[in-house]
Amino acid sequence: MYLLFTKNNMLGYLNKPEKKLIGSLKDGQDRKLKILLVGAEVSPYASVGGFAMVLAYLSRALVRMGHDARLFIPKFGFIDEEKYGLEMVCEGLEVPTNDETLPNLICNVKAAKDLAGVTTYFLENQEYYEKRANVYGYSDDPTRWALLSRGALEFIKICGDFVPNIIHCNDWHTGIVGNYLKTVYKEDKVLSKISSVFTMHNLRFQGNFDHRYVSELDFDDGKSSIESFFSPRLNTQNFMKRGILYSDAVNTVSKTYSREILTPDFGEGLDKLLLEVKSKLFGIVNGLDYDEFNPQTDNLIEQNYSLRNVGLRKLNKTALQKEYDLPVSDNTLLLGFVGRLDMQKGVDLIVQTLYHVLTDYDVQFVQVGGGEGALVDMLNHLKSTFPNKVGIHPYPNFTLPRLLFSGSDCILYPSRFEPCGIVQIEAMRYGAAPIVRKVGGLADTVENFDSSKGTGNGFVFTDFNEFSLFGQLVRAVELYKNKKLWHKLMQNAMKSDFSWEYSAKEYVRLYERAISFKSKKGYKSRSIEAALF
Ligand code: GLC
Repeated sequence: MYLLFTKNNMLGYLNKPEKKLIGSLKDGQDRKLKILLVGAEVSPYASVGGFAMVLAYLSRALVRMGHDARLFIPKFGFIDEEKYGLEMVCEGLEVPTNDETLPNLICNVKAAKDLAGVTTYFLENQEYYEKRANVYGYSDDPTRWALLSRGALEFIKICGDFVPNIIHCNDWHTGIVGNYLKTVYKEDKVLSKISSVFTMHNLRFQGNFDHRYVSELDFDDGKSSIESFFSPRLNTQNFMKRGILYSDAVNTVSKTYSREILTPDFGEGLDKLLLEVKSKLFGIVNGLDYDEFNPQTDNLIEQNYSLRNVGLRKLNKTALQKEYDLPVSDNTLLLGFVGRLDMQKGVDLIVQTLYHVLTDYDVQFVQVGGGEGALVDMLNHLKSTFPNKVGIHPYPNFTLPRLLFSGSDCILYPSRFEPCGIVQIEAMRYGAAPIVRKVGGLADTVENFDSSKGTGNGFVFTDFNEFSLFGQLVRAVELYKNKKLWHKLMQNAMKSDFSWEYSAKEYVRLYERAISFKSKKGYKSRSIEAALF
């Protein structure tokens, strides 16, 4: 008998000790909701980070459940209007800027419906989106995101195409939507009825500044009104903090991260505020689209396979070793890393630890993903030290990650912090055992393999240091020699269930919770007051 890891039982366990700490969700009513998800990026139109996928798949899962979920993002210049069939739904929308010299920015809203039945609205503005080659990285980003936030609200108010029950905002870029709703639009007859949910995908980024080094003069307590679009002071307003303060309900992308951020180590300076509002703070782990990520049908991999014929997987391992010009050997444990080269992800720890492992063990390491220059240098040095054991591709790539998931034996993910992490879930779906640090969403999705019981879907260590990671790497090397146990581990990983259906249901309960929080007027103001003063 195989043990099935479902989110239900893993999170069920995790729910128990935290009930008093963080608000717990009860079953919502079974009504159909209208939800507008607002964010800087949504796959496939614009896809830079993990949350572009989250918004795309969550909205699809909500539509499958019968809800009317729609998306609202900027119309970047690189979005192909013809390919996606964009149509004008609101021309000449005037978005107030609160600036006397230029009181309104003129925008259009276009819309497209995808094959899954999800409508996406695109806020069009030449200056702030159309002419920009990238999604992020401009000095006037706060203006661009204030425009998106207020643009979404004005669109609902003026155009009448879609009036949602819930606006679901994501990360700091749209953090001030809740702030606008509770101040500027609090008497508006359409907008005042809408509840807001704010999801924090990563607390590290709170605005267009580094909150860790903000001067006292620039400190934003969240009480002041939102600055005009063109005021330099908009740059120092903490959109993330305001999202937490003013939204009706707030969540992060895993239960463990939602508890971790209540401590100074993970709270990024917002831990005290989060403790104040913890009764409206929840954690919902991200899911995976099990149709798109399916080793049985995936045409980006060399050889399709499933749980029943997982032996075929080794053809992908061979293809991967050839791709990276490494000796082809099934007996060698092949480790992979997929993702941004970022200190958050512990890439430095991987490289430092591998120096010890690669010298003495029959192990290979391959990597794909671009990022920080110093980490690229570290990888280059590792490659030059072990040319026959290391393969690197320090640039983003669309297809290689799938080959790594389907051909590696293990995927490394030793993050310093990890709100959710999607790579470990993708890896498990393809039968690569994740080696993770017990933080955030990694702790919620990966359980240490116990060879005496045959339980667990990966390798887990606690402390962020070379010894701890080394220990799990050696465990993996030894376990790999026992084909039967390794097979069991692979099956456990592939049977883990993190499909979006479960998480989408949790979001619906969160939306219902936000609606009831908003209707209890006393609660709303008490919670903001408590946090502010
Ligand atoms: C951010 C987080 C990551 C999470 C993703 C989607 O990129 O760092 O852990 O999976 O958002 O929520």
